[in-house]
Amino acid sequence: MKTIVDPLLLQNQCLAWRGEGKSIAVVPTMGFFHAGHESLMRQARTLADKLVVTLFVNPSQFGPGEDLGAYPRKLEQDAAIAQGHGADVLFTPAAEEMYAPGHSTWVEVGGVSQGLCGASRPGHFRGVTTVVAKLFSLCQPTVAVFGEKDWQQLAVIRRMVRDLFLPVSIVGMPIFREADGLAMSSRNAYLTPAERAEAVHISHGVFLARKLALQGASIPEVKAGVLTYWNTHLPLGSLDYLQFVHPETMQPVENFSTPVLVAVAMKVGKARLIDNCLIAPVA
Ligand code: PAF
Repeated sequence: MKTIVDPLLLQNQCLAWRGEGKSIAVVPTMGFFHAGHESLMRQARTLADKLVVTLFVNPSQFGPGEDLGAYPRKLEQDAAIAQGHGADVLFTPAAEEMYAPGHSTWVEVGGVSQGLCGASRPGHFRGVTTVVAKLFSLCQPTVAVFGEKDWQQLAVIRRMVRDLFLPVSIVGMPIFREADGLAMSSRNAYLTPAERAEAVHISHGVFLARKLALQGASIPEVKAGVLTYWNTHLPLGSLDYLQFVHPETMQPVENFSTPVLVAVAMKVGKARLIDNCLIAPVA
């Protein structure tokens, strides 16, 4: 595995591979790898001749007062993991290289990026789509693999790819969970033991939503049931949102007659955690 820090060197390498008729899979990440990242790499490795893993804590997707400075980093360990999964390149650029002085070009997806995390974190998705568009331009991928924990991010990226006719397939991989159900996230590292013990109830609330929906409860009933559960089991949590939305448009829905994404964002201590589950209509 080569580690490349220079964006244009990466682009030259990837253009050369594409010129030789090779396909390229990319796994864009911000590092501090856990088993969820590994599942993306494992899948990506099967989808193309070459695998590029990118590791860049992208400043433009963090708002003022967010955790850009504190975001956990472990480059050496991450490099060993990427190598272990057969990456051909680990791309670890510096912020000044990705955003050269005078940088003034942004990629902004409307609609689908506006609710949920887009509403709570203004500018977040503009930062994500801008850096992902740059990474696609550098890596020339035939396929890119993302995790479904960031479901809205995946929906926004799919929309960008569709609207800009970008020649890359987007693959979403299921949420990877700890044994007790907590969705894996690099931000779980911020949790104290007491917060970690409560944070598991985020996922249990999401599973409860699915159970109540399948038992025939309406959206207001499901919402009330889950909020009551969290009030009892998650006193350290501060809810950002619990929403029931269409999984592609991310627009709020009123009943379970179409597929519904139940999406939650919750602050527990210093960690802002998200989780979701898809509920298919009962036949
Ligand atoms: O999901 C992430 O880790 C980031 O948002 C991404 C897609 C790598 C863009 O910085």
